[in-house]
Amino acid sequence: MIIYRAKDYQDMSRKAANIISAQVIMKPNCTLGLATGSTPVGTYQQLIEWYKKGDLDFSQVSSINLDEYKGLSPENDQSYRYFMNTNLFNHINIDKTRTFVPNGLEADSQKACNDYNHIITASGGIDLQLLGLGHNGHIGFNEPGEAFERETHCVDLTESTIEANKRFFESEEDVPRQAYTMGIKNIMQARKILVVVSGADKAEILEKVLKGPITPAVPASILQLHNDVTIVADEAALGRI
Ligand code: F6R
Repeated sequence: MIIYRAKDYQDMSRKAANIISAQVIMKPNCTLGLATGSTPVGTYQQLIEWYKKGDLDFSQVSSINLDEYKGLSPENDQSYRYFMNTNLFNHINIDKTRTFVPNGLEADSQKACNDYNHIITASGGIDLQLLGLGHNGHIGFNEPGEAFERETHCVDLTESTIEANKRFFESEEDVPRQAYTMGIKNIMQARKILVVVSGADKAEILEKVLKGPITPAVPASILQLHNDVTIVADEAALGRI
């Protein structure tokens, strides 16, 4: 495992974007595993900037996102498809037909998850998986207690997640109750993993992830067993390391 200590959020974003750029340059037809959330936004902005300068070409790249709310359409501004389009895909020359996010409109969970596992396999596997880290150690929507062997599955969102998300919706009833997420097994099968972490509020969980026991109680602790993980974290997040 390699740990890069960044000065601040901007430095973290530039370092992470450098690693993704290296992947795209070394293998122009690579498959990137991508994440939503606030942490990767600066990384995506940096990639857009370098693309606009002419330094990066995404025309042969494919992407596979970690997760999506069940029931939300791609046009819903809270869907992860919408997030990816507005924060990255609309601004680079990636072929959108090769960008994959679980199908939130597929009501049949088994079908949605089987289809997604098939997409991951058919892509030849993920070359570089980008991850953010939840405050409880979750990755994707794999919350504490989730079995490490699971592939893409449907999760019931916890009351605290619904509560935290309701500010983004008109009413609490509009907040999705379920989501489709890649499982830990899919994530661990990626050839390389890049984790971005920022802020003092992540210091305690990052210490547990890196130094604590490997346990489903801290889903990201499994990353200790992957043979090619790079952590890019700012000083605040690395405050206990
Ligand atoms: C995003 C995802 C989540 C986030 C995590 C951290 O697709 O699956 O696991 O990476 O919740 O979120 P932020 O970056 O907002 O702290």
